[in-house]
Amino acid sequence: MAPLALGNILQLLIFSCLIAVGASVASQALPNCSGKCGNLSIPYPFGMTPECYLNENFLITCDNSISPPQPQLMGGDIVVTDITLDGQLEILNYVAWDCYNADGTRRDRNFPWLQASMFTISNVKNKLTAVGCDTKANIRAEREGRESTYFTGCMSYCEKRDLLDLNGSCSGVGCCQVSIPSGLKNLNISLTSYYHHTYVWDFNPCSYAFVADETKFTFNNKSFDELASIESLPLVLDWAIGNEPCKVAELPEHKSDYACKQNSICLDAANRSGYICKCKDGYEGNPYHPIGCQDIDECKNSSLHNCISERNCFNTPANYTCFCSEGFHGDGRKNGNGCMRNEVNIIKISIAFSLCVLVVIVGSSWLFFIDKKRKLLNMKKKFFRQNGGLLLQQELHEREASTETILDEKVANERAVEQIKEVAKLAKRCLSIKGEERPSMKEVAQELEDLRKLTCQHPWAEVAVNIEETQFLLGQASSVSTYVSN
Ligand SMILES: *[C@@H]1O[C@H](CO)[C@@H](O)[C@H](O)[C@H]1NC(C)=O
Ligand SMILES: *[C@@H]1O[C@H](CO)[C@@H](O)[C@H](O)[C@H]1NC(C)=O
Ligand SMILES: *[C@@H]1O[C@H](CO)[C@@H](O)[C@H](O)[C@H]1NC(C)=O
Ligand SMILES: *[C@@H]1O[C@H](CO)[C@@H](O)[C@H](O)[C@H]1NC(C)=O
Ligand SMILES: *[C@@H]1O[C@H](CO)[C@@H](O)[C@H](O)[C@H]1NC(C)=O
Ligand SMILES: *[C@@H]1O[C@H](CO)[C@@H](O)[C@H](O)[C@H]1NC(C)=O
Repeated sequence: MAPLALGNILQLLIFSCLIAVGASVASQALPNCSGKCGNLSIPYPFGMTPECYLNENFLITCDNSISPPQPQLMGGDIVVTDITLDGQLEILNYVAWDCYNADGTRRDRNFPWLQASMFTISNVKNKLTAVGCDTKANIRAEREGRESTYFTGCMSYCEKRDLLDLNGSCSGVGCCQVSIPSGLKNLNISLTSYYHHTYVWDFNPCSYAFVADETKFTFNNKSFDELASIESLPLVLDWAIGNEPCKVAELPEHKSDYACKQNSICLDAANRSGYICKCKDGYEGNPYHPIGCQDIDECKNSSLHNCISERNCFNTPANYTCFCSEGFHGDGRKNGNGCMRNEVNIIKISIAFSLCVLVVIVGSSWLFFIDKKRKLLNMKKKFFRQNGGLLLQQELHEREASTETILDEKVANERAVEQIKEVAKLAKRCLSIKGEERPSMKEVAQELEDLRKLTCQHPWAEVAVNIEETQFLLGQASSVSTYVSN
């Protein structure tokens, strides 16, 4: 486990170094090229000087005489507002207008055209929109790859302002809208009217028309007035590399012109000729830049990995894996079985726990047993005192003092009687109701043995030995008590 972890750390370090390199080209322009004009990022293949763009089609001119500096296409006319690496370019496209006087004579008009032959107008994002109550709009354009002119248009008519279809609907009453075909370029827009706005002049003296990003315009109550002061609206252009599809661009003979760099793939442009490049899954960056695309560290972004935590995530090229740290097992995934403690540990822990419990149980029962025994002992001592044991003890001490007087005939003669009495006492004790007072089998055996000794050995004759034995017995309260208690 340890060498693996070390390997992981090493790889992680290498990856973070690569990512740091990637971060240094965040602007995504070529080295030593300015990647910004105003606040617009200009990524390669676009550029502002010959060594910074792929070819003249991707030239962006930065007009620094305006504040903020304005990025422009084609040496001036077209203002660029956004560039994306997925093949789109947002520009500002002029609104066409056609205005009349109350008597029906034309006051003024503007029919702009868009000339950007290397780009096509996105048919997905843009629509032709006309606004007015006596309005007919036309576009005339070229379609890429087809040597023919294309026309389309729409018309809108209404007689009263309060009869307008509002609410964003552009359905032909005050506003009309049509889709455009793919591949349009070099677009001319024009406006005509049926009655020169004479019937609607009081609230709508002008017609307006534009091809624009359909999300950037919503028709409402104020559109007639607002459009009078709107010069241009955003339009999305499609850009691509060359005019050949990927299968041609990828051929070895075109290798030197092939624009897709490391860790990227080639895609045929969706609505036009040429191709675009895209970072492979799991990579990010600028696929056109000479350094290509860099690996994404999925572990750094919790929305990109499903490991239970960043610590359980290991970044790999284009992907990542989840793992469990030492002592754990599982797949480390949130939607999987996560990480669990190894079972070996569970067994160890449960054994230790059971041992603890066992020790506590044994220990407490032992203490309980000791306590009970101590109580029993105390009770026996008590009985010993109550039943004159002390007196006997005292007498024995006195006998110790004058042994000769103790050993008189009377005692010797009475021995047999004493023995009988002792046996009777023992029998009585054996019949005792209270368990505590009953002698154990061992005690009975001991007592009988003592009696036998008393008979056979005549213990009182051998004084010295006897005193010792008595003292020994007296020293042990329990033996004394069994000997004397009734
Ligand atoms: C910067 O860009 C944002 C949109 O990305 C735009 O709204 C803003 O006006 C721009 N600012 C300047 C100073 O160009
Ligand atoms: C657009 O108008 C310009 C100027 O009137 C003209 O030169 C050009 O050919 C027109 N383009 C199309 C596609 O009609
Ligand atoms: C506008 O649209 C909303 C919902 O889309 C609808 O409830 C409302 O009646 C509409 N108003 C008009 C004037 O059409
Ligand atoms: C539309 O505009 C007119 C006049 O400006 C106003 O009286 C009316 O309330 C507006 N209607 C809506 C739905 O905004
Ligand atoms: C994490 O990934 C999501 C999805 O790709 C992205 O939208 C978001 O910006 C990322 N967050 C960070 C901090 O990179
Ligand atoms: C990444 O790895 C997971 C398994 O760890 C796999 O299911 C997934 O398909 C991989 N994704 C890619 C893009 O290779």
